[in-house]
This record gives sequence, structure tokens and C-alpha cells, in this order.
Amino acid sequence: MARAGEKVDYVFKVVLIGDSAVGKSQILARFARNEFSLDSKATIGVEFQTRTLVIDHRSVKAQIWDTAGQERAVTSAYYRGALGALLVYDITRRQSFDHIPRWLDELRAHADKNIVIMLVGNKSDLEEQRAVSTEDAKEFAEKENLFFLETSALQATNVESAFQTVLTEIF
Ligand code: GTP
Ligand code: MG
Repeated sequence: MARAGEKVDYVFKVVLIGDSAVGKSQILARFARNEFSLDSKATIGVEFQTRTLVIDHRSVKAQIWDTAGQERAVTSAYYRGALGALLVYDITRRQSFDHIPRWLDELRAHADKNIVIMLVGNKSDLEEQRAVSTEDAKEFAEKENLFFLETSALQATNVESAFQTVLTEIF
């Protein structure tokens, strides 16, 4: 973590997208503050948080944007300048995975064509309620040329890896 006054070599904007309640805000809370809340409220409007990390001896400030999945009123301003995206679904809600192609279309329509995209199947701690197989998601990710990981914001599984992979790939 860089301290005030420390120099930042790069600022990378990364956006979170996906249906409501898939866990976007909790993934961000875990990454930015190492926090998690089970009674997380739906996001209203647009928020962002930052965390500075060192990649290849350079200090990289990740500016992570988060918005409401429900409004589907994400505008081009949200995507503007984004170099990375986490496309999130909930492994226990099939519908949130079935909507991924729509989110991907929207992302590709508005974002930079070189944007680095990570498909994220969140809530991997709820294995007994799984409704999307790892294989299906992996196959989709390969077809669409996306990185793919399953995460648990609750257990802090793969959250760090998901951001690290995207940020390193941007770098
Ligand atoms: P919107 O802001 O409405 O778009 O939703 P969101 O995608 O930001 O979802 P949010 O992070 O608010 O999480 C929704 C619910 O899922 C909350 O009750 C969280 O506590 C819960 N949740 C998030 N991540 C996990 C996880 O990894 N495991 C489990 N079990 N619950 C999670
Ligand atoms: Mg939210």
C-alpha cells in the first residue's frame, strides 16, 4: 500500500459489471479494504475505491469502479478510460450467468477494444447451491477470450488473484 506522498507510476481504471446481488461491491470491499458484509445494500449510482499495489517494481494505483447491476443504466461514461473489467456472476444463480453475454456485448460496445476482461464466478463458498458448473463457465470464457476465476468475497478466495491478473495484464 503506498502512503500519502508516495509516487504513483500508473493509474489503471477497472470496472465491475454484472447483475444485481452477484457480489460486485463485496468483491471490491474485500480487495480495497479487506472487508466483507453479509447485509450489503444494493449500490446506488456509481462509486469507486482505490488501492495501490506494486507490479514489476512500479507503483500502480487501481481505481475500481462499481455501480448498480439492477438499473442497467450504465452509461458510456462508466466505461470511459477503463483498461480492465471484472464481469461478475453468482455461481448459485443461473440467470446471472445467462446474462453475461449481454454484459459482454455492452462492455464491448462501450469500452476500449483492448480492455482486459476477467469473467468471475462469485460465491464459490456456496458449493452446495451451485447452479453454474465450472466447466460451462470455463468453456464460455475460452470461446470469448476472457480470463476466468471463481471467487468468494466472503472467504477472500481468488479476489486478490482476479485483480492481480487483470492489472498485470494491463501493465
Ligand atoms: P448491486 O449493487 O445491487 O448491483 O449488487 P452487488 O453485485 O454489488 O452485490 P453485493 O456485493 O451487494 O452482494 C449481494 C449479497 O451477496 C450480499 O448479501 C453479500 O453479502 C452477498 N455476497 C457477496 N459476495 C459473497 C460471497 O462470496 N459469498 C457469499 N456467501 N455471499 C456473498
Ligand atoms: Mg453493489
